Amino acid sequence: MKALVAVLGGDGIGPDVVAQAVQVLEATAQLGGHHFELAPALFGGAAIDVHGDGLPPATLDLCRRADAVLLGAIGGPKWSAPDAKVRPETALLALRRELGVFANLRPVAVHPALRDASPIRPEVIDGVDFVFVRELTGGIYFGEKRRTATDATDVCTYSVAEIERVTRVAGQLARARRKRVTSIDKSNVLETSRLWRTVAGRVIAAEFPDVALEHMLVDAAAMHLIRRPRDFDVLLTENMFGDILTDEASMLAGSLGVLPSASLGEGRRGLYEPIHGSAPDIAGRGIANPIGTILSAALLLRHSLGLEREALAIETAVGRVLDAGARTADIAAPGAKTVGTGEMGAAIVAALRHASS
Ligand code: IPM
Ligand code: MG
Repeated sequence: MKALVAVLGGDGIGPDVVAQAVQVLEATAQLGGHHFELAPALFGGAAIDVHGDGLPPATLDLCRRADAVLLGAIGGPKWSAPDAKVRPETALLALRRELGVFANLRPVAVHPALRDASPIRPEVIDGVDFVFVRELTGGIYFGEKRRTATDATDVCTYSVAEIERVTRVAGQLARARRKRVTSIDKSNVLETSRLWRTVAGRVIAAEFPDVALEHMLVDAAAMHLIRRPRDFDVLLTENMFGDILTDEASMLAGSLGVLPSASLGEGRRGLYEPIHGSAPDIAGRGIANPIGTILSAALLLRHSLGLEREALAIETAVGRVLDAGARTADIAAPGAKTVGTGEMGAAIVAALRHASS
């Protein structure tokens, strides 16, 4: 098949990890006889430096024309002064909103080879396999923001329609899994959460009667994710709760560096990015873990291009390489030998080629 993929390296370790995912996509194209046009564009701080705009029109236009967007990470101290006029993060929020990708899927599974990489005891995390569906284009991230000399305000708004559509994504996903949705809110305090609970409850009951729904307060969810993570299947959250809880949940898998995400809207086009940030402290050192981005490329193949077999082949290759003992610094045992970003990427490409030969 032919596909156009916009490739936004972004800032910090973003370009390093994206370069490895690009190698994996190129190998996939070659092995499967596909033609992927992988078109790079400036985004985030890198674009601010050149154009004074984190999401230049040419980049947005490319993303709109593309079948999918692969993104590294954005941001860094250079652009994060409290009084900065333009911010890389604003560009990311604008891109998500412009592409209409309201549902952010963040799967968390514990790879058996990494059971000792987590700070949580192995017997608690064995068999963990859940997915967050995080609402991505609404809530406090996008409400009115005001600042005076003496106070500041961020408004949080959710409409019934916004809650309905993201709940449907969670319901559909649960149907293909263990048929359980945990909807997370703070309905004992927030009006938006009371609406969330009502609407999520109504949609699941009416449209997904085969799916079991439980409601959980966000503070309790933060605890249960550590106490009994195996019990979760699909977790449905509003935007900010999902941001916070997915960083927490990444510790079950051993590192932020191994977790991918897919952001989806009404059509097939999606935005794919690792859940980690730009890690300016290790940028350019060649030690970042590319697995989160490589697994994001697998999600891209699955959700935007419909290439399930190719997606699975990448996931299997990542598993093989971990089983064989390759570890970037973030997932290595203290004192153990580590590989760099490029070596990890190359090992995954080699495993992919080996499996298909
Ligand atoms: C994420 C990130 C972003 C978010 C930042 C960089 C704006 O933390 O994708 O989780 O908060 O959504
Ligand atoms: Mg985050």
